[in-house]
Amino acid sequence: MSTIDAVLKSVGEKNDINIDKVTVVGAGEVGMATAMSILCQGIASEVALVDMVEDRLMGQLKDIQQGIMFLNAKVSASADYAVTAGSKVCVITAGVRQKDKETRLELVQRNTDVLKVIVPNIVKYCPDCVIIIITNPCDILAWVTWKLSGFPAGRIIGSGTTLDSARFRFLISEKLGVNPGSVHANIIAEHGESCVPLWSTINVGGARLRDRNPKIATENDPENWLDLFQNVIKSGYTVRTLKGFTNWAIGLSVAGLVKSVLKNDNKVYPVSTLAKGMCGIDQEVFLSLPCCLGRNGVTQVIEVKLADEERRLLKTSADKLKEVIDGVSL
Ligand code: 2OP
Repeated sequence: MSTIDAVLKSVGEKNDINIDKVTVVGAGEVGMATAMSILCQGIASEVALVDMVEDRLMGQLKDIQQGIMFLNAKVSASADYAVTAGSKVCVITAGVRQKDKETRLELVQRNTDVLKVIVPNIVKYCPDCVIIIITNPCDILAWVTWKLSGFPAGRIIGSGTTLDSARFRFLISEKLGVNPGSVHANIIAEHGESCVPLWSTINVGGARLRDRNPKIATENDPENWLDLFQNVIKSGYTVRTLKGFTNWAIGLSVAGLVKSVLKNDNKVYPVSTLAKGMCGIDQEVFLSLPCCLGRNGVTQVIEVKLADEERRLLKTSADKLKEVIDGVSL
């Protein structure tokens, strides 16, 4: 009898069912911020890391393992996708990221080609999982993942404007002096230059800002809300200029999405989903709308009442994304 057997007398089935296992593909800055946001909040019982750069991957794994006593979870890592087996959620962060003046949309074919390797492996080992795409351009790549995976559209989620909306809520909370959690403000459509702030629905404690300031975000707005929105648009660029990349806010945002899927809590987030037939959109595109998230991904899309200008901008965003999708080589 081995020493272990002598100490740990087996009294029943070994509990090796992965209750809440999450995979993160890509052990770079965004992937590790996402993994640590999940681990430090106790959102998953196991996190599996996948990356092709094996030295960095093993370094990340060993570094976390040396602190695992402070986390109530198991961490595994491999370049072999078998490590992902049984994951309920797979987060894809791998791919090339924007350089200097590059737009997110200019990454589309290079990152589509990366997904052609990743997605079939996820389908093989996690056929029932929800896939969350962070890699940019995340709206286009959510559509690519849907096509490559053959999964129901609801099980493919682009992180989309969850991050933009978090930035929006932060800046509004600073301007008004209230907790960001008490600011209900969404940005929808593309996670990019054609995103659409929903000025008509922003409310704090049920009080709509537009009721208090009917000129909000217009040319003659006495409170200069358009300046705040410009700061949202520039947020990613500002951080990239200062530290070279963004990772913490996106990691925390996606950890929130993962939690809603695992807990099946039907929280509403602006995430990139198949928008055809929603809010006047007739193209087959993925873009961000307010969605309920549960164990099967997007369970409902909130058909939010849009002001005419917002509906027009949403359509413009959908047209732009469709044009890019039409150029993608799967
Ligand atoms: C951001 O906006 C990189 O799209 C990511 O920070």
